Amino acid sequence: MIEAKNLTKEYHVDGQRFKAVDNVSFEVDKGDIFAIIGLSGAGKSTLVRLLNRLEEPDEGNVFIDGVDIMSLREKELLEIRKRIAFIFQNFNLFNQYSVLENVMYPLNLTNKKVDKKKVAREVLDYVGLISKEKAFPKELSGGQRQRVAIARALVTRPEIILSDEATSALDPESTRIITDLYKRARDDFETTTIMITHQMEVAKDTSNKIAVMEKGRIIESNDTVELFRSPKSKLAQSFVKKAAPSNIIDVSSFKGVVKRLSYTKLTVNTPVLNDTIKKFDVNINLIEGNINNISNDQVGYMIVEFTGEDAEIFKALQFLKEHNVEISEVL
Ligand SMILES: Nc1ncnc2c1ncn2[C@@H]1O[C@H](COP(=O)(O)OP(=O)(O)OP(=O)(O)O)[C@@H](O)[C@H]1O
Ligand SMILES: [Mg+2]
Repeated sequence: MIEAKNLTKEYHVDGQRFKAVDNVSFEVDKGDIFAIIGLSGAGKSTLVRLLNRLEEPDEGNVFIDGVDIMSLREKELLEIRKRIAFIFQNFNLFNQYSVLENVMYPLNLTNKKVDKKKVAREVLDYVGLISKEKAFPKELSGGQRQRVAIARALVTRPEIILSDEATSALDPESTRIITDLYKRARDDFETTTIMITHQMEVAKDTSNKIAVMEKGRIIESNDTVELFRSPKSKLAQSFVKKAAPSNIIDVSSFKGVVKRLSYTKLTVNTPVLNDTIKKFDVNINLIEGNINNISNDQVGYMIVEFTGEDAEIFKALQFLKEHNVEISEVL
């Protein structure tokens, strides 16, 4: 439904050119919640602004339902933008307007003959903030402001939501309310969401696909379950670790061979480690383990130490690989 192809955006800073977005491509299907995660300055906001041409890319294309939006004229672009809602990093709420007026605002820009107040109040109810309809943004908490921004995005029933999540982390309860909202919007209205987030927790609980961005590039992207099961890059591993905290392991303090084993539901419930010990002359010492529930899947990893003869350890690792256990180094 949304396809970004080789998107590049350069900025000129102090006479130097640098690529804030560097040759980025990805595909998002209808109903996907696609999370883009990365550190500050990675280029996330810039990338998402390119998707609806709030900024023009230097290179690349964006296709929405097969239509190359770079080829569109002003009027056609405005038409397509009506199908897309944008939630800004700082929410961009109007401080002089009440919550209700903020949510009604996009409806004032359409010619649709609807009872704007009624529709806006329904959406405020949907995000659980009807009691705040008369309040002003400065009277709200960060999480509440974010919900107003989501309500304002949903009020036009967009097909696509582009959300640039606020930098400051919310408390767990507000985070849960907001992640639930995105999922409900997908289930109730089949919205497709591209969300930028700094919190892997949010990506884990919401998205079905994740892209990890670093220095303008997507360095890794995968189904959420897969990314959690087996993060490849150091950055992805550190994000996964943050969402599923674990101790830092000093591999050199172990005598044996320390490996990270990743497994899915398939292998969580099979005694593959036991079989390995029985079959080969090795000992396995569990250093750390974690199982995460993502969507309806369980993914997990274990960090284990193998001791024994090198040849036996080698065979044991081979055996595990043959039984769908992914083996990687502990970084
Ligand atoms: N208009 C601009 N002119 C020059 N440089 C810019 C401009 N906008 C962004 N940048 C630079 O591009 C890089 C990427 O910025 P961007 O805002 O996309 O990062 P981000 O990943 O959204 O970061 P954050 O997580 O802090 O929101 C940064 O180094 C930033 O300073
Ligand atoms: Mg940003």
